[in-house]
Amino acid sequence: MRPKKVSDSHTVMTEMVMPNDTNPMGNLMGGNLMRWMDIVASIAAGKHTERHVVTASVDHVSFQKPILLGEVVTLKATATRAWTTSVEIYVEVFANDIKGLNPRRCNHAYFTFVGLDDDKLKPTPIPALLPLTDEEERLFESASRRREVRLILSGRMKPEDATDLKSMFATLEK
Ligand SMILES: CC(C)(COP(=O)(O)OP(=O)(O)OC[C@H]1O[C@@H](n2cnc3c(N)ncnc32)[C@H](O)[C@@H]1OP(=O)(O)O)[C@@H](O)C(=O)NCCC(=O)NCCS
Repeated sequence: MRPKKVSDSHTVMTEMVMPNDTNPMGNLMGGNLMRWMDIVASIAAGKHTERHVVTASVDHVSFQKPILLGEVVTLKATATRAWTTSVEIYVEVFANDIKGLNPRRCNHAYFTFVGLDDDKLKPTPIPALLPLTDEEERLFESASRRREVRLILSGRMKPEDATDLKSMFATLEK
Protein backbone atom coordinates (compact mmCIF):
# COMPACT_ATOMS: atom_id res chain seq x y z
CA MET A 1 0.00 0.00 0.00
CA ARG A 2 1.32 3.41 -0.95
CA PRO A 3 2.06 5.62 2.12
CA LYS A 4 -0.02 8.79 2.19
CA LYS A 5 0.81 12.38 3.02
CA VAL A 6 -0.88 14.17 5.90
CA SER A 7 -2.27 16.70 3.44
CA ASP A 8 -4.14 13.90 1.62
CA SER A 9 -6.52 13.71 4.58
CA HIS A 10 -7.10 17.45 5.18
CA THR A 11 -10.83 18.11 5.56
CA VAL A 12 -12.65 21.35 6.35
CA MET A 13 -16.35 21.52 7.22
CA THR A 14 -18.35 24.69 7.85
CA GLU A 15 -21.69 24.87 9.65
CA MET A 16 -23.97 27.62 10.93
CA VAL A 17 -25.50 27.18 14.39
CA MET A 18 -29.26 26.92 13.84
CA PRO A 19 -31.94 27.00 16.58
CA ASN A 20 -32.28 23.20 16.68
CA ASP A 21 -28.50 22.89 17.34
CA THR A 22 -28.67 24.83 20.62
CA ASN A 23 -29.15 24.13 24.32
CA PRO A 24 -31.65 26.05 26.53
CA MET A 25 -29.06 28.87 26.91
CA GLY A 26 -29.07 29.43 23.15
CA ASN A 27 -25.50 28.14 22.68
CA LEU A 28 -24.42 25.27 20.45
CA MET A 29 -25.09 22.03 22.35
CA GLY A 30 -21.96 20.00 23.12
CA GLY A 31 -23.44 16.82 21.67
CA ASN A 32 -24.16 18.54 18.36
CA LEU A 33 -20.61 19.85 18.16
CA MET A 34 -19.28 16.35 18.88
CA ARG A 35 -21.47 15.00 16.08
CA TRP A 36 -19.95 17.48 13.61
CA MET A 37 -16.47 16.64 14.92
CA ASP A 38 -17.11 12.93 14.39
CA ILE A 39 -18.35 13.58 10.84
CA VAL A 40 -15.40 15.74 9.78
CA ALA A 41 -12.97 13.31 11.42
CA SER A 42 -14.53 10.30 9.70
CA ILE A 43 -14.25 12.02 6.31
CA ALA A 44 -10.55 12.68 6.95
CA ALA A 45 -10.11 9.06 8.08
CA GLY A 46 -11.86 7.83 4.93
CA LYS A 47 -9.52 9.94 2.77
CA HIS A 48 -6.47 8.47 4.50
CA THR A 49 -7.60 4.85 4.65
CA GLU A 50 -9.61 4.71 1.40
CA ARG A 51 -11.91 2.45 3.42
CA HIS A 52 -15.15 2.54 5.31
CA VAL A 53 -14.20 3.47 8.88
CA VAL A 54 -15.71 3.27 12.36
CA THR A 55 -14.95 5.49 15.34
CA ALA A 56 -13.00 3.43 17.88
CA SER A 57 -12.40 6.19 20.44
CA VAL A 58 -12.48 9.92 21.14
CA ASP A 59 -9.98 11.44 23.52
CA HIS A 60 -10.81 14.08 26.10
CA VAL A 61 -12.93 16.93 24.69
CA SER A 62 -13.37 20.13 26.70
CA PHE A 63 -15.65 22.95 25.68
CA GLN A 64 -13.55 26.01 26.35
CA LYS A 65 -15.65 28.75 24.77
CA PRO A 66 -19.40 28.81 24.02
CA ILE A 67 -20.51 29.05 20.40
CA LEU A 68 -23.64 31.14 19.91
CA LEU A 69 -26.78 30.79 17.82
CA GLY A 70 -26.16 32.13 14.30
CA GLU A 71 -22.36 31.82 14.51
CA VAL A 72 -20.26 30.06 11.89
CA VAL A 73 -18.32 26.96 12.99
CA THR A 74 -15.32 25.72 11.03
CA LEU A 75 -13.99 22.24 11.77
CA LYS A 76 -10.60 21.12 10.46
CA ALA A 77 -9.50 17.50 10.52
CA THR A 78 -6.26 15.83 9.57
CA ALA A 79 -4.56 12.46 10.08
CA THR A 80 -1.63 12.49 12.50
CA ARG A 81 -0.49 8.85 12.49
CA ALA A 82 -1.58 5.48 11.16
CA TRP A 83 -0.86 2.08 12.67
CA THR A 84 -1.89 -1.34 11.31
CA THR A 85 -5.65 -0.83 10.95
CA SER A 86 -6.23 2.39 12.92
CA VAL A 87 -5.57 6.04 12.25
CA GLU A 88 -5.55 9.02 14.64
CA ILE A 89 -7.35 12.14 13.43
CA TYR A 90 -6.83 15.60 14.96
CA VAL A 91 -9.87 17.89 14.89
CA GLU A 92 -9.79 21.61 15.64
CA VAL A 93 -12.91 23.77 16.01
CA PHE A 94 -13.05 27.50 15.28
CA ALA A 95 -15.96 29.95 15.48
CA ASN A 96 -16.73 33.47 14.33
CA ASP A 97 -19.84 35.55 13.83
CA ILE A 98 -21.53 35.86 10.43
CA LYS A 99 -19.47 38.98 9.62
CA GLY A 100 -16.24 37.11 10.33
CA LEU A 101 -15.73 38.97 13.61
CA ASN A 102 -14.78 37.51 17.02
CA PRO A 103 -12.77 34.62 15.49
CA ARG A 104 -11.64 32.11 18.10
CA ARG A 105 -10.39 28.56 18.53
CA CYS A 106 -12.97 26.73 20.61
CA ASN A 107 -11.68 23.23 21.15
CA HIS A 108 -9.89 20.22 19.74
CA ALA A 109 -9.90 16.45 20.08
CA TYR A 110 -8.16 13.34 18.83
CA PHE A 111 -10.31 10.61 17.28
CA THR A 112 -9.25 7.06 16.41
CA PHE A 113 -10.86 5.34 13.43
CA VAL A 114 -10.47 1.77 12.25
CA GLY A 115 -10.52 0.84 8.56
CA LEU A 116 -12.83 -2.03 7.65
CA ASP A 117 -12.66 -4.72 4.97
CA ASP A 118 -14.94 -4.67 1.92
CA ASP A 119 -17.71 -6.41 3.88
CA LYS A 120 -17.48 -3.63 6.53
CA LEU A 121 -17.00 -6.31 9.16
CA LYS A 122 -13.36 -6.73 10.15
CA PRO A 123 -10.46 -4.32 10.71
CA THR A 124 -8.17 -4.27 7.69
CA PRO A 125 -4.66 -2.86 7.04
CA ILE A 126 -4.48 0.80 6.02
CA PRO A 127 -1.73 2.91 4.40
CA ALA A 128 1.11 4.33 6.48
CA LEU A 129 1.25 8.10 7.05
CA LEU A 130 4.27 10.21 6.11
CA PRO A 131 4.81 13.35 8.19
CA LEU A 132 6.64 16.00 6.16
CA THR A 133 6.60 19.28 8.11
CA ASP A 134 7.92 19.94 11.64
CA GLU A 135 4.35 20.26 12.97
CA GLU A 136 3.31 17.01 11.26
CA GLU A 137 6.38 15.32 12.74
CA ARG A 138 5.53 16.65 16.23
CA LEU A 139 1.95 15.30 16.07
CA PHE A 140 3.22 12.01 14.59
CA GLU A 141 5.74 11.50 17.42
CA SER A 142 3.31 12.35 20.24
CA ALA A 143 0.59 10.13 18.72
CA SER A 144 2.19 6.94 20.01
CA ARG A 145 1.94 8.21 23.62
CA ARG A 146 -1.71 9.24 23.13
CA ARG A 147 -2.38 5.77 21.66
CA GLU A 148 -0.82 4.07 24.67
CA VAL A 149 -2.96 6.15 27.06
CA ARG A 150 -6.20 5.30 25.21
CA LEU A 151 -5.33 1.62 24.94
CA ILE A 152 -4.54 1.47 28.66
CA LEU A 153 -7.79 3.30 29.54
CA SER A 154 -9.84 0.95 27.33
CA GLY A 155 -8.19 -2.09 28.95
CA ARG A 156 -6.40 -3.09 25.75
CA MET A 157 -2.85 -2.51 26.99
CA LYS A 158 -1.12 -3.16 30.30
CA PRO A 159 0.52 -0.04 31.71
CA GLU A 160 3.85 -1.91 31.92
CA ASP A 161 3.77 -2.41 28.14
CA ALA A 162 3.48 1.33 27.42
CA THR A 163 7.08 1.80 26.29
CA ASP A 164 6.74 5.31 24.85
CA LEU A 165 5.01 6.64 27.96
CA LYS A 166 7.66 5.01 30.15
CA SER A 167 10.51 6.54 28.18
CA MET A 168 8.85 9.97 28.34
CA PHE A 169 8.54 9.79 32.14
CA ALA A 170 12.09 8.45 32.42
CA THR A 171 13.33 11.48 30.45
CA LEU A 172 11.33 13.86 32.68
CA GLU A 173 12.83 12.29 35.81
CA LYS A 174 16.40 13.02 34.66
C1 LIG B 1 -13.24 -0.55 16.71
C2 LIG B 1 -13.44 -2.03 16.40
C3 LIG B 1 -13.58 -2.21 14.88
C4 LIG B 1 -12.20 -2.78 16.87
O1 LIG B 1 -12.45 -4.14 16.58
P1 LIG B 1 -11.59 -5.32 17.27
O2 LIG B 1 -12.17 -6.59 16.84
O3 LIG B 1 -11.45 -5.04 18.70
O4 LIG B 1 -10.26 -5.17 16.48
P2 LIG B 1 -8.75 -5.22 16.93
O5 LIG B 1 -8.54 -5.70 18.33
O6 LIG B 1 -8.06 -5.94 15.81
O7 LIG B 1 -8.33 -3.68 16.88
C5 LIG B 1 -8.33 -3.00 15.65
C6 LIG B 1 -7.66 -1.69 15.85
O8 LIG B 1 -8.50 -0.86 16.65
C7 LIG B 1 -7.72 -0.26 17.65
N1 LIG B 1 -8.60 0.02 18.76
C8 LIG B 1 -9.54 -0.79 19.25
N2 LIG B 1 -10.16 -0.19 20.30
C9 LIG B 1 -9.57 1.00 20.45
C10 LIG B 1 -9.75 2.08 21.35
N3 LIG B 1 -10.67 2.05 22.32
N4 LIG B 1 -8.96 3.17 21.20
C11 LIG B 1 -8.05 3.23 20.22
N5 LIG B 1 -7.81 2.24 19.33
C12 LIG B 1 -8.57 1.14 19.47
C13 LIG B 1 -6.67 -1.28 17.96
O9 LIG B 1 -5.56 -0.69 18.63
C14 LIG B 1 -6.32 -1.78 16.57
O10 LIG B 1 -5.48 -0.83 15.96
P3 LIG B 1 -4.16 -1.29 15.09
O11 LIG B 1 -4.59 -2.42 14.20
O12 LIG B 1 -3.83 -0.08 14.28
O13 LIG B 1 -3.11 -1.67 16.06
C15 LIG B 1 -14.70 -2.63 17.10
O14 LIG B 1 -14.52 -2.52 18.49
C16 LIG B 1 -15.98 -1.93 16.71
O15 LIG B 1 -16.56 -2.23 15.67
N6 LIG B 1 -16.45 -1.01 17.57
C17 LIG B 1 -17.68 -0.26 17.29
C18 LIG B 1 -17.37 0.90 16.35
C19 LIG B 1 -18.56 1.81 16.22
O16 LIG B 1 -19.66 1.35 16.04
N7 LIG B 1 -18.31 3.10 16.33
C20 LIG B 1 -19.36 4.07 16.38
C21 LIG B 1 -19.68 4.34 17.80
S1 LIG B 1 -21.36 4.53 18.09
